[in-house]
Amino acid sequence: MSNQYSNVMLASFQAIVQAKGVIRNGKLVAFPTETVYGLGADATNDVAVASIFEAKGRPQFNPLIVHFSNYSDISEYAEMSRYATTLSRSFWPGPLTMILKRKPDCGLSHLVSAGLDTVAVRIPDNHMARALIDASGVPIAAPSANKSGHISPTTAEHVAKSLGDKVEIILDGGECEVGIESTVLDLSSDVPTILRPGAITASQIEDALMRPIEVHSVNIPMSAGVNDYADACKNKVVYKSPGQLTSHYAPSIPLRMNATVAKEGEVLLGFGSAENATLNLSYRGDLSEAAANLFAMLHILDDKKYKGIAVMSIPETGLGMAINDRLHRASAPRK
Ligand code: TXA
Ligand code: MG
Repeated sequence: MSNQYSNVMLASFQAIVQAKGVIRNGKLVAFPTETVYGLGADATNDVAVASIFEAKGRPQFNPLIVHFSNYSDISEYAEMSRYATTLSRSFWPGPLTMILKRKPDCGLSHLVSAGLDTVAVRIPDNHMARALIDASGVPIAAPSANKSGHISPTTAEHVAKSLGDKVEIILDGGECEVGIESTVLDLSSDVPTILRPGAITASQIEDALMRPIEVHSVNIPMSAGVNDYADACKNKVVYKSPGQLTSHYAPSIPLRMNATVAKEGEVLLGFGSAENATLNLSYRGDLSEAAANLFAMLHILDDKKYKGIAVMSIPETGLGMAINDRLHRASAPRK
């Protein structure tokens, strides 16, 4: 198979060195984990993270899992709670993703968290994955390496067929042993809650923590992307997409879309050439750059000294759809 697709590389020192260069360059590398193949980018690089969404053709910004090779590196970016420490000893490296509070100014892209103040982290149980993260020297953000609407990839060939030309290198580590995505456990509030069932079960987690936990009821919102639904059916797991949750980041001041100028008291967030914009998502009208800037700029402009944020119109193509989806939610009437 490695001969069939020119960007597929078998495990070797040289492959890791080359892949590391790609990650440091802000480009994409697909890599094996024990669950499914991931589509990886430097989690500290906004533009690189934006290109993940672009490559997947995702119409929404779901927050992404940030992958680490070492336990000790995580505390630079996220608050390791007591529960997190306990669970890390039992299940890492392995298919458990923990949602933790982000550390302020931790350097992670805001796009990996889709603007939330939490971040999903895990240490994959795969030597090639950890070697890549180690060599890159940065945490790696990665969703499953499939196009939106396609099933999750468990071989390098699946990745090549779905995303072949969108990714610089596909590291071939053979077939994934687990084959379904990791369990996603929210530890950012008082009661640990499973948001997505996976290989690590609720009772295994309860045993390790010596306390009951909650499991989110089956919930695929009508508005969920095809990808969520297809993945859920294929893997017989169902999960709540945080992109659909009300807790998803929205500025505390009103947001108005398709603005041409700021009204009195508003601040203008521009796109393309704009004279009076306080910040601009992308002067050159580049949607990838706009996606990369979106959450960070909304955070900056979310200031009570303004009556609201007026955002200029974003074309409804490619990543523009994901940007508009997010802006629609942020501009919807509040309860
Ligand atoms: O096994 C896996 O988890 C694979 C491999 C590559 O690690 N990755 C994966 O990523 O399945 P993805 O993007 O397909 O799924 C990540 C899940 C989504 O359900 C997402 O909504 C949730 O984790 N998630 C990520 N960050 C979150 C956050 N801050 N709060 C709540 N949910 C979050
Ligand atoms: Mg997926």
